[in-house]
Amino acid sequence: MKTLPSVLIAAGALLGLSMLAWSQSGAPADPAAGTPQSFALLDPDNQVVGRYSIPPDSDILRHANAEEILYGKRLLNETARLLPDNVGGGLNCNSCHLSQGKTDHGANYFNTINSYPKVMPRAAAMVDMAGRVNGCFMRSMNGKPLPVDSAEMRAIIAYFTWLREDVPKALRVDTPSEGKIDTSLVPDPVRGKALYAAQCATCHGDDGEGMKDQFGDYIFPPLWGDESFNIGAGMARTYKAAAFVFYNMPMGVNHKLPIGQGGALTQQEAVDVAEYFTHMPRPDFAPKGNDWPKGNKPKDARY
Ligand code: HEC
Ligand code: HEC
Repeated sequence: MKTLPSVLIAAGALLGLSMLAWSQSGAPADPAAGTPQSFALLDPDNQVVGRYSIPPDSDILRHANAEEILYGKRLLNETARLLPDNVGGGLNCNSCHLSQGKTDHGANYFNTINSYPKVMPRAAAMVDMAGRVNGCFMRSMNGKPLPVDSAEMRAIIAYFTWLREDVPKALRVDTPSEGKIDTSLVPDPVRGKALYAAQCATCHGDDGEGMKDQFGDYIFPPLWGDESFNIGAGMARTYKAAAFVFYNMPMGVNHKLPIGQGGALTQQEAVDVAEYFTHMPRPDFAPKGNDWPKGNKPKDARY
């Protein structure tokens, strides 16, 4: 293996990017206590070449476009309230991308800006950054796409770019956005229903309806019904939902895992409860017929 500094200098020279921000480790950021704040950086050969630390929000202020980044952060937090024309339900981006995508195993955005454009199997085509954001607007938010050149789209992308902390495109932060789950586990929705009542309903409601504050904003987001994500969303798929639940839910209850904020359920329980709530009534996704045009539809796809 090459020595660390030579790899850094080579990668930096190659990509013309500042090495400063990510080679110095920042202070821990604000997400839930106990989740890791710093991760190995891997090169394309999976060699460790440095570390990435989640930047604290105060770091935003040292950037010339701080205002744009902060607007992006606000949009991720208050999506339903600020973008009513684009959000069909009541969710915010943050409802799934925990703490503005800064939570390990909580649908984080650490590698996001560096991953696009890329070919997505669902589209069987190249998808760029704005296209991927709009995928979540149309599916997870059951809404409408943002114009790609709008101030809002630019702000969201500016936030992703900031979070990357100048990590060169060729390197990867070594933690998954979604955690792994055993997809050979056979779901039992009857057990899932009982688990939901025991472990989830206190926050997400007896009928999956969530809970709003006095201003009409969700404090606990809905898991099914008209205000929730539609059947085209990744979260509508049993194993994707199970992975999210296993690592992150019930929120803040029992941190048995060294990662995420969940850990109270077994993987089997997460699969059972995910099968139950993903299959409860939720909005349709009209253009669903265009998905997986070249086949390879995953076994938990809803259509
Ligand atoms: C109901 C949950 C949910 C909501 C709400 C949601 N997303 Fe997602 N998002 C996901 C999941 C799950 C994935 C992982 C990929 C998939 O679809 O299988 C994802 C993936 C992404 C990705 C790709 C990340 C990467 O590194 O490849 C981006 C970007 C993204 N979402 C942005 C957003 C934005 C912006 C919003 C708000 C407008 C949003 N999401 C709302 C669940 C959600
Ligand atoms: C202590 C309250 C609490 C409990 C209990 C809880 N959750 Fe959550 N859950 C949350 C909060 C809060 C969010 C949104 C995160 C945010 O906005 O920062 C969330 C988000 C979610 C989401 C993604 C957003 C959406 O609406 O689809 C899913 C899926 C989810 N929870 C499933 C579950 C399941 C399944 C259980 C039971 C095993 C559970 N949760 C238990 C508080 C809770």
